[in-house]
Amino acid sequence: MTFAGFRKALHQLDKIRYRPVLLLKIARAYGRTLLLRRPTLRICEFSITAECQSRCGFCYASRFHRPGAEPLSVEEIRSTWQQAKALGAFSTVVFGGEPLLHPRLLDIVGVLEPRKHIVTLTTNAIGLTEDLVIELKRRGVFLLNLSLNSLDPELNDRLRGYPGHHARVMEAITLCKKHGLDVFLPVATAKPYWQETLRIVEFARRQGVGVTINLMCAMGRAEGKHAELFDDTFWRELRALYDTNPGLRSDYDVNLDLRIGCPAAFEKIHVAPYGDVTGCSMNPVSFGNVRETPLAEIVARMRRFHHFAKRHPSCIVAVDRDFIETYMDYAAGFASLPYPVEANPAYGREAGEGVTPAVGQCSPPAVQQGTVGRQQVVVRAEEGACV
Ligand SMILES: C[S@@+](CC[C@H](N)C(=O)[O-])C[C@H]1O[C@@H](n2cnc3c(N)ncnc32)[C@H](O)[C@@H]1O
Ligand code: SF4
Repeated sequence: MTFAGFRKALHQLDKIRYRPVLLLKIARAYGRTLLLRRPTLRICEFSITAECQSRCGFCYASRFHRPGAEPLSVEEIRSTWQQAKALGAFSTVVFGGEPLLHPRLLDIVGVLEPRKHIVTLTTNAIGLTEDLVIELKRRGVFLLNLSLNSLDPELNDRLRGYPGHHARVMEAITLCKKHGLDVFLPVATAKPYWQETLRIVEFARRQGVGVTINLMCAMGRAEGKHAELFDDTFWRELRALYDTNPGLRSDYDVNLDLRIGCPAAFEKIHVAPYGDVTGCSMNPVSFGNVRETPLAEIVARMRRFHHFAKRHPSCIVAVDRDFIETYMDYAAGFASLPYPVEANPAYGREAGEGVTPAVGQCSPPAVQQGTVGRQQVVVRAEEGACV
Protein backbone atom coordinates (compact mmCIF):
# COMPACT_ATOMS: atom_id res chain seq x y z
CA MET A 1 0.00 0.00 0.00
CA THR A 2 1.39 3.48 -0.80
CA PHE A 3 0.56 6.72 0.94
CA ALA A 4 0.21 8.45 -2.45
CA GLY A 5 -2.36 5.86 -3.56
CA PHE A 6 -4.32 6.35 -0.34
CA ARG A 7 -4.30 10.13 -0.81
CA LYS A 8 -5.58 9.80 -4.37
CA ALA A 9 -8.36 7.50 -3.19
CA LEU A 10 -9.47 10.12 -0.68
CA HIS A 11 -9.29 12.78 -3.38
CA GLN A 12 -11.78 10.73 -5.42
CA LEU A 13 -14.08 10.24 -2.46
CA ASP A 14 -14.22 13.97 -1.93
CA LYS A 15 -15.87 14.35 -5.36
CA ILE A 16 -18.79 12.08 -4.59
CA ARG A 17 -19.45 12.66 -0.92
CA TYR A 18 -23.14 13.57 -1.42
CA ARG A 19 -24.11 10.31 -3.15
CA PRO A 20 -24.87 7.66 -0.54
CA VAL A 21 -25.62 4.81 -3.02
CA LEU A 22 -22.36 5.44 -4.80
CA LEU A 23 -20.42 5.67 -1.54
CA LEU A 24 -21.83 2.29 -0.57
CA LYS A 25 -20.75 0.73 -3.87
CA ILE A 26 -17.27 2.17 -3.46
CA ALA A 27 -17.01 0.96 0.14
CA ARG A 28 -18.06 -2.53 -0.99
CA ALA A 29 -15.46 -2.51 -3.78
CA TYR A 30 -12.69 -1.53 -1.33
CA GLY A 31 -13.90 -4.17 1.12
CA ARG A 32 -13.88 -6.93 -1.51
CA THR A 33 -10.42 -5.91 -2.70
CA LEU A 34 -8.64 -5.16 0.56
CA LEU A 35 -10.37 -7.45 3.05
CA LEU A 36 -11.58 -10.40 0.93
CA ARG A 37 -8.66 -10.11 -1.53
CA ARG A 38 -11.00 -10.64 -4.49
CA PRO A 39 -10.25 -8.78 -7.74
CA THR A 40 -13.04 -6.26 -8.25
CA LEU A 41 -13.79 -4.26 -11.33
CA ARG A 42 -13.71 -0.52 -10.67
CA ILE A 43 -14.21 1.04 -14.10
CA CYS A 44 -15.71 -0.03 -17.43
CA GLU A 45 -15.01 2.53 -20.16
CA PHE A 46 -17.01 2.84 -23.37
CA SER A 47 -15.81 4.18 -26.71
CA ILE A 48 -19.25 4.79 -28.18
CA THR A 49 -18.29 5.90 -31.68
CA ALA A 50 -15.38 5.84 -34.09
CA GLU A 51 -16.43 9.15 -35.65
CA CYS A 52 -14.49 12.36 -35.05
CA GLN A 53 -14.19 15.80 -36.62
CA SER A 54 -10.54 16.24 -35.51
CA ARG A 55 -7.42 14.67 -36.96
CA CYS A 56 -5.05 14.50 -33.98
CA GLY A 57 -1.69 13.36 -35.28
CA PHE A 58 -1.28 10.85 -32.45
CA CYS A 59 -4.84 9.49 -32.13
CA TYR A 60 -4.97 5.84 -31.02
CA ALA A 61 -8.68 5.68 -31.95
CA SER A 62 -8.09 6.53 -35.61
CA ARG A 63 -8.34 2.83 -36.47
CA PHE A 64 -11.50 2.03 -34.55
CA HIS A 65 -13.53 2.32 -37.78
CA ARG A 66 -14.96 -0.99 -39.04
CA PRO A 67 -16.77 -0.43 -42.33
CA GLY A 68 -20.13 -2.18 -42.45
CA ALA A 69 -20.30 -2.82 -38.69
CA GLU A 70 -22.84 -1.15 -36.38
CA PRO A 71 -21.57 0.37 -33.13
CA LEU A 72 -23.12 -1.01 -29.94
CA SER A 73 -26.72 0.15 -29.55
CA VAL A 74 -27.97 1.93 -26.44
CA GLU A 75 -29.52 -1.37 -25.31
CA GLU A 76 -26.26 -3.26 -25.82
CA ILE A 77 -24.42 -0.61 -23.80
CA ARG A 78 -27.04 -0.91 -21.05
CA SER A 79 -26.63 -4.70 -20.95
CA THR A 80 -22.83 -4.47 -20.91
CA TRP A 81 -22.92 -1.90 -18.11
CA GLN A 82 -25.25 -4.12 -16.06
CA GLN A 83 -22.77 -6.99 -16.46
CA ALA A 84 -19.85 -4.72 -15.52
CA LYS A 85 -21.72 -3.60 -12.40
CA ALA A 86 -22.17 -7.24 -11.39
CA LEU A 87 -18.35 -7.49 -11.48
CA GLY A 88 -18.11 -4.45 -9.18
CA ALA A 89 -17.87 -1.49 -11.58
CA PHE A 90 -19.09 1.83 -10.22
CA SER A 91 -17.30 4.16 -12.63
CA THR A 92 -17.22 4.74 -16.39
CA VAL A 93 -15.78 7.13 -18.94
CA VAL A 94 -17.56 7.73 -22.22
CA PHE A 95 -15.36 8.57 -25.19
CA GLY A 96 -14.70 7.55 -28.78
CA GLY A 97 -13.94 8.90 -31.36
CA GLU A 98 -15.73 12.01 -30.30
CA PRO A 99 -18.63 11.10 -27.99
CA LEU A 100 -20.51 14.37 -28.52
CA LEU A 101 -21.03 13.34 -32.16
CA HIS A 102 -23.12 10.32 -31.13
CA PRO A 103 -26.78 11.09 -31.95
CA ARG A 104 -27.97 9.24 -28.82
CA LEU A 105 -25.33 10.47 -26.37
CA LEU A 106 -27.85 11.50 -23.72
CA ASP A 107 -29.62 8.13 -23.90
CA ILE A 108 -26.28 6.40 -23.44
CA VAL A 109 -25.45 8.60 -20.46
CA GLY A 110 -28.89 7.70 -19.10
CA VAL A 111 -28.37 3.92 -19.20
CA LEU A 112 -25.10 4.37 -17.29
CA GLU A 113 -27.16 5.73 -14.35
CA PRO A 114 -25.03 8.79 -13.52
CA ARG A 115 -26.78 9.52 -10.23
CA LYS A 116 -25.62 6.17 -8.84
CA HIS A 117 -22.19 5.90 -10.49
CA ILE A 118 -19.23 8.03 -11.52
CA VAL A 119 -20.02 8.82 -15.16
CA THR A 120 -17.65 11.17 -16.95
CA LEU A 121 -17.08 12.09 -20.59
CA THR A 122 -13.81 12.72 -22.37
CA THR A 123 -14.31 15.14 -25.24
CA ASN A 124 -12.40 17.43 -27.56
CA ALA A 125 -15.00 20.08 -26.52
CA ILE A 126 -15.61 21.18 -30.11
CA GLY A 127 -19.32 20.37 -29.96
CA LEU A 128 -19.90 21.32 -26.32
CA THR A 129 -22.76 23.81 -25.95
CA GLU A 130 -24.09 25.51 -22.85
CA ASP A 131 -27.36 23.54 -23.19
CA LEU A 132 -25.45 20.26 -23.22
CA VAL A 133 -23.43 21.21 -20.15
CA ILE A 134 -26.67 22.01 -18.31
CA GLU A 135 -28.33 18.76 -19.47
CA LEU A 136 -25.37 16.58 -18.49
CA LYS A 137 -25.26 18.20 -15.05
CA ARG A 138 -29.03 17.73 -14.67
CA ARG A 139 -28.64 14.01 -15.42
CA GLY A 140 -25.95 13.58 -12.77
CA VAL A 141 -22.65 13.96 -14.63
CA PHE A 142 -20.39 16.07 -12.41
CA LEU A 143 -17.09 16.02 -14.32
CA LEU A 144 -15.99 16.54 -17.91
CA ASN A 145 -12.56 15.74 -19.32
CA LEU A 146 -11.58 18.36 -21.93
CA SER A 147 -8.58 17.22 -23.94
CA LEU A 148 -5.78 19.72 -24.45
CA ASN A 149 -2.24 19.36 -25.72
CA SER A 150 -0.66 22.79 -25.42
CA LEU A 151 -1.35 26.28 -24.04
CA ASP A 152 0.05 27.66 -27.29
CA PRO A 153 -3.08 27.85 -29.51
CA GLU A 154 -1.13 27.40 -32.74
CA LEU A 155 0.80 24.34 -31.53
CA ASN A 156 -2.25 22.82 -29.84
CA ASP A 157 -4.44 23.16 -32.92
CA ARG A 158 -1.72 21.71 -35.14
CA LEU A 159 -1.25 18.69 -32.86
CA ARG A 160 -5.01 18.18 -32.65
CA GLY A 161 -5.67 18.66 -36.35
CA TYR A 162 -8.47 21.16 -35.77
CA PRO A 163 -8.17 24.94 -36.13
CA GLY A 164 -9.77 26.67 -33.15
CA HIS A 165 -9.62 23.64 -30.81
CA HIS A 166 -7.64 25.53 -28.12
CA ALA A 167 -10.25 28.32 -28.07
CA ARG A 168 -13.08 25.77 -27.77
CA VAL A 169 -11.44 24.16 -24.74
CA MET A 170 -10.95 27.54 -23.03
CA GLU A 171 -14.63 28.38 -23.64
CA ALA A 172 -15.68 24.96 -22.38
CA ILE A 173 -13.71 25.43 -19.13
CA THR A 174 -15.59 28.69 -18.55
CA LEU A 175 -18.95 27.04 -19.31
CA CYS A 176 -18.31 24.12 -16.97
CA LYS A 177 -17.22 26.45 -14.17
CA LYS A 178 -20.31 28.59 -14.71
CA HIS A 179 -22.58 25.56 -14.24
CA GLY A 180 -20.59 23.88 -11.47
CA LEU A 181 -19.19 20.94 -13.45
CA ASP A 182 -15.71 19.78 -12.43
CA VAL A 183 -13.09 19.80 -15.19
CA PHE A 184 -10.07 17.66 -15.84
CA LEU A 185 -7.71 18.34 -18.73
CA PRO A 186 -6.43 15.08 -20.24
CA VAL A 187 -3.03 15.69 -21.80
CA ALA A 188 -1.69 13.10 -24.23
CA THR A 189 2.01 13.64 -23.78
CA ALA A 190 5.19 12.36 -25.40
CA LYS A 191 8.86 13.18 -24.81
CA PRO A 192 8.97 16.18 -27.21
CA TYR A 193 5.95 17.75 -25.50
CA TRP A 194 6.82 17.20 -21.85
CA GLN A 195 7.45 20.91 -21.18
CA GLU A 196 4.04 21.72 -22.74
CA THR A 197 2.51 19.24 -20.33
CA LEU A 198 4.17 20.86 -17.32
CA ARG A 199 2.82 24.26 -18.43
CA ILE A 200 -0.70 22.79 -18.60
CA VAL A 201 -0.27 21.35 -15.08
CA GLU A 202 0.62 24.84 -13.81
CA PHE A 203 -2.25 26.44 -15.76
CA ALA A 204 -4.71 23.89 -14.33
CA ARG A 205 -3.50 24.59 -10.80
CA ARG A 206 -4.18 28.31 -11.27
CA GLN A 207 -7.60 27.58 -12.83
CA GLY A 208 -8.58 25.16 -10.08
CA VAL A 209 -9.12 22.27 -12.50
CA GLY A 210 -7.49 18.83 -12.60
CA VAL A 211 -5.13 17.20 -15.09
CA THR A 212 -4.90 13.63 -16.34
CA ILE A 213 -1.62 12.76 -17.98
CA ASN A 214 -2.00 10.14 -20.71
CA LEU A 215 1.35 8.78 -21.80
CA MET A 216 1.49 8.57 -25.57
CA CYS A 217 0.88 5.01 -26.70
CA ALA A 218 2.01 3.69 -30.04
CA MET A 219 -1.38 2.87 -31.55
CA GLY A 220 -3.42 4.29 -34.44
CA ARG A 221 -1.73 7.42 -35.82
CA ALA A 222 1.03 7.08 -33.17
CA GLU A 223 1.78 3.53 -34.32
CA GLY A 224 5.49 2.72 -34.39
CA LYS A 225 6.53 6.04 -32.80
CA HIS A 226 8.74 4.32 -30.27
CA ALA A 227 11.27 7.13 -30.03
CA GLU A 228 8.62 9.31 -28.40
CA LEU A 229 7.65 6.72 -25.80
CA PHE A 230 8.65 6.93 -22.19
CA ASP A 231 10.89 4.65 -20.22
CA ASP A 232 11.27 3.63 -16.60
CA THR A 233 13.46 6.66 -15.81
CA PHE A 234 10.77 8.97 -17.06
CA TRP A 235 8.16 7.01 -15.16
CA ARG A 236 10.01 7.82 -11.91
CA GLU A 237 10.03 11.56 -12.79
CA LEU A 238 6.33 11.37 -13.50
CA ARG A 239 5.69 9.71 -10.16
CA ALA A 240 7.54 12.52 -8.37
CA LEU A 241 5.32 15.05 -10.16
CA TYR A 242 2.18 13.15 -9.14
CA ASP A 243 3.28 12.85 -5.54
CA THR A 244 3.73 16.62 -5.22
CA ASN A 245 0.58 17.56 -7.12
CA PRO A 246 -2.78 16.35 -5.74
CA GLY A 247 -4.64 17.78 -8.78
CA LEU A 248 -2.92 15.23 -11.05
CA ARG A 249 -4.73 11.99 -11.64
CA SER A 250 -4.40 8.89 -13.72
CA ASP A 251 -6.23 5.64 -13.78
CA TYR A 252 -3.19 3.69 -12.66
CA ASP A 253 -3.16 5.95 -9.61
CA VAL A 254 -6.50 5.27 -7.97
CA ASN A 255 -6.52 1.47 -7.72
CA LEU A 256 -8.75 -0.17 -5.13
CA ASP A 257 -5.78 -2.19 -3.87
CA LEU A 258 -4.07 1.19 -3.17
CA ARG A 259 -1.14 0.24 -5.36
CA ILE A 260 0.09 2.26 -8.31
CA GLY A 261 0.22 0.34 -11.58
CA CYS A 262 -1.68 -1.07 -14.53
CA PRO A 263 -5.32 -1.76 -13.59
CA ALA A 264 -6.16 -3.55 -16.88
CA ALA A 265 -8.50 -6.54 -16.56
CA PHE A 266 -8.39 -6.57 -12.77
CA GLU A 267 -9.89 -3.15 -12.05
CA LYS A 268 -10.46 -1.69 -15.49
CA ILE A 269 -11.81 -2.73 -18.86
CA HIS A 270 -12.72 -0.87 -22.02
CA VAL A 271 -15.45 -1.66 -24.53
CA ALA A 272 -14.63 -0.49 -28.06
CA PRO A 273 -17.33 0.85 -30.46
CA TYR A 274 -18.28 -2.58 -31.89
CA GLY A 275 -18.20 -4.47 -28.58
CA ASP A 276 -14.59 -5.69 -28.34
CA VAL A 277 -13.28 -5.75 -24.78
CA THR A 278 -9.73 -4.55 -24.08
CA GLY A 279 -7.68 -3.76 -20.98
CA CYS A 280 -7.94 -0.03 -21.65
CA SER A 281 -8.89 2.21 -24.56
CA MET A 282 -5.25 2.48 -25.66
CA ASN A 283 -4.76 -1.26 -25.83
CA PRO A 284 -5.35 -2.70 -29.34
CA VAL A 285 -5.88 -6.29 -28.16
CA SER A 286 -9.40 -7.69 -27.71
CA PHE A 287 -10.22 -10.68 -25.50
CA GLY A 288 -13.76 -11.13 -26.74
CA ASN A 289 -16.85 -9.32 -27.89
CA VAL A 290 -19.85 -8.59 -25.68
CA ARG A 291 -22.14 -9.43 -28.61
CA GLU A 292 -20.91 -13.03 -28.43
CA THR A 293 -19.61 -13.77 -24.96
CA PRO A 294 -20.74 -12.87 -21.43
CA LEU A 295 -18.59 -10.10 -19.98
CA ALA A 296 -17.63 -12.17 -16.91
CA GLU A 297 -16.17 -14.86 -19.19
CA ILE A 298 -14.16 -12.30 -21.16
CA VAL A 299 -12.83 -10.68 -17.98
CA ALA A 300 -11.84 -14.08 -16.51
CA ARG A 301 -9.91 -14.79 -19.69
CA MET A 302 -8.20 -11.40 -19.53
CA ARG A 303 -7.11 -12.02 -15.95
CA ARG A 304 -5.31 -15.19 -17.07
CA PHE A 305 -3.26 -13.23 -19.64
CA HIS A 306 0.23 -12.94 -18.18
CA HIS A 307 0.77 -9.29 -19.22
CA PHE A 308 -2.30 -8.32 -17.17
CA ALA A 309 -1.72 -10.85 -14.39
CA LYS A 310 1.78 -9.50 -13.66
CA ARG A 311 0.12 -6.19 -12.62
CA HIS A 312 2.79 -4.06 -14.25
CA PRO A 313 3.98 -1.27 -11.89
CA SER A 314 3.46 1.41 -14.55
CA CYS A 315 1.60 1.38 -17.87
CA ILE A 316 1.91 -1.63 -20.20
CA VAL A 317 0.80 0.22 -23.36
CA ALA A 318 3.13 3.20 -22.89
CA VAL A 319 6.13 1.84 -20.97
CA ASP A 320 6.37 -1.97 -21.14
CA ARG A 321 8.64 -2.69 -24.14
CA ASP A 322 7.84 -6.39 -24.11
CA PHE A 323 4.09 -5.79 -24.44
CA ILE A 324 4.55 -2.92 -26.91
CA GLU A 325 6.79 -4.87 -29.25
CA THR A 326 4.83 -8.13 -29.05
CA TYR A 327 1.23 -6.93 -28.97
CA MET A 328 1.04 -3.21 -29.89
CA ASP A 329 3.32 -3.43 -32.92
CA TYR A 330 1.39 -6.44 -34.18
CA ALA A 331 -1.67 -4.19 -34.53
CA ALA A 332 -0.04 -2.61 -37.59
CA GLY A 333 -1.31 -5.49 -39.68
CA PHE A 334 -4.99 -4.88 -38.97
CA ALA A 335 -7.24 -2.45 -40.80
CA SER A 336 -9.53 -2.13 -37.79
CA LEU A 337 -8.66 -2.24 -34.09
CA PRO A 338 -8.87 -3.80 -31.59
CA TYR A 339 -7.68 -7.11 -33.06
CA PRO A 340 -8.54 -10.49 -31.47
CA VAL A 341 -5.75 -11.66 -29.17
CA GLU A 342 -5.84 -15.13 -30.75
CA ALA A 343 -4.68 -13.59 -34.02
CA ASN A 344 -1.30 -12.88 -32.43
CA PRO A 345 0.95 -15.97 -32.62
CA ALA A 346 2.68 -14.86 -29.40
CA TYR A 347 -0.58 -15.38 -27.53
CA GLY A 348 -0.77 -18.98 -28.70
CA ARG A 349 2.74 -19.60 -27.37
CA GLU A 350 2.27 -17.71 -24.11
CA ALA A 351 -1.27 -18.70 -23.20
CA GLY A 352 -1.52 -22.05 -24.91
CA GLU A 353 -5.00 -21.17 -26.10
CA GLY A 354 -4.43 -19.19 -29.28
CA VAL A 355 -5.58 -20.35 -32.70
CA THR A 356 -4.45 -19.44 -36.17
CA PRO A 357 -6.77 -16.89 -37.77
CA ALA A 358 -8.58 -18.10 -40.85
CA VAL A 359 -7.72 -15.09 -42.97
CA GLY A 360 -7.10 -16.94 -46.20
CA GLN A 361 -4.54 -15.96 -48.79
CA CYS A 362 -3.01 -12.51 -48.43
CA SER A 363 -2.36 -11.28 -51.91
CA PRO A 364 -1.75 -7.55 -52.17
CA PRO A 365 -3.30 -5.11 -52.57
CA ALA A 366 -6.60 -6.51 -51.23
CA VAL A 367 -7.65 -6.25 -47.61
CA GLN A 368 -8.33 -9.78 -46.34
CA GLN A 369 -11.16 -10.78 -44.06
CA GLY A 370 -11.62 -13.85 -41.92
CA THR A 371 -12.65 -14.95 -38.49
CA VAL A 372 -10.95 -15.88 -35.25
CA GLY A 373 -13.41 -17.83 -33.18
CA ARG A 374 -16.56 -15.88 -33.98
CA GLN A 375 -14.82 -12.51 -34.35
CA GLN A 376 -14.29 -10.88 -37.70
CA VAL A 377 -10.67 -10.09 -38.56
CA VAL A 378 -9.61 -7.64 -41.24
CA VAL A 379 -5.94 -7.77 -42.14
CA ARG A 380 -4.14 -5.17 -44.20
CA ALA A 381 -2.64 -7.51 -46.72
CA GLU A 382 -0.39 -4.86 -48.26
CA GLU A 383 1.46 -4.67 -44.92
CA GLY A 384 2.29 -8.34 -45.27
CA ALA A 385 1.10 -9.13 -41.78
CA CYS A 386 -1.19 -12.03 -42.59
CA VAL A 387 -0.51 -15.29 -40.87
C1 LIG B 1 -9.25 9.01 -28.30
S1 LIG B 1 -9.75 10.42 -27.41
C2 LIG B 1 -11.50 10.26 -27.48
C3 LIG B 1 -12.22 11.40 -26.82
C4 LIG B 1 -12.20 12.75 -27.53
N1 LIG B 1 -12.29 12.66 -28.93
C5 LIG B 1 -10.99 13.54 -27.10
O1 LIG B 1 -10.07 13.73 -27.88
O2 LIG B 1 -10.99 13.95 -25.94
C6 LIG B 1 -9.43 10.08 -25.67
C7 LIG B 1 -8.17 10.71 -25.10
O3 LIG B 1 -7.05 9.98 -25.56
C8 LIG B 1 -6.02 10.88 -25.90
N2 LIG B 1 -5.17 10.19 -26.88
C9 LIG B 1 -5.41 10.03 -28.18
N3 LIG B 1 -4.42 9.30 -28.76
C10 LIG B 1 -3.55 8.99 -27.79
C11 LIG B 1 -2.34 8.24 -27.76
N4 LIG B 1 -1.82 7.68 -28.85
N5 LIG B 1 -1.73 8.09 -26.56
C12 LIG B 1 -2.24 8.66 -25.43
N6 LIG B 1 -3.38 9.37 -25.41
C13 LIG B 1 -4.03 9.54 -26.57
C14 LIG B 1 -6.77 12.09 -26.42
O4 LIG B 1 -5.98 13.26 -26.38
C15 LIG B 1 -7.94 12.15 -25.47
O5 LIG B 1 -7.60 12.87 -24.31
S1 SF4 C 1 -7.88 12.20 -29.92
FE1 SF4 C 1 -10.10 12.56 -29.83
S2 SF4 C 1 -10.33 14.47 -30.95
FE2 SF4 C 1 -8.36 13.70 -31.52
S3 SF4 C 1 -8.73 12.55 -33.41
FE3 SF4 C 1 -8.79 11.11 -31.67
S4 SF4 C 1 -10.91 10.91 -31.14
FE4 SF4 C 1 -10.68 12.78 -32.38
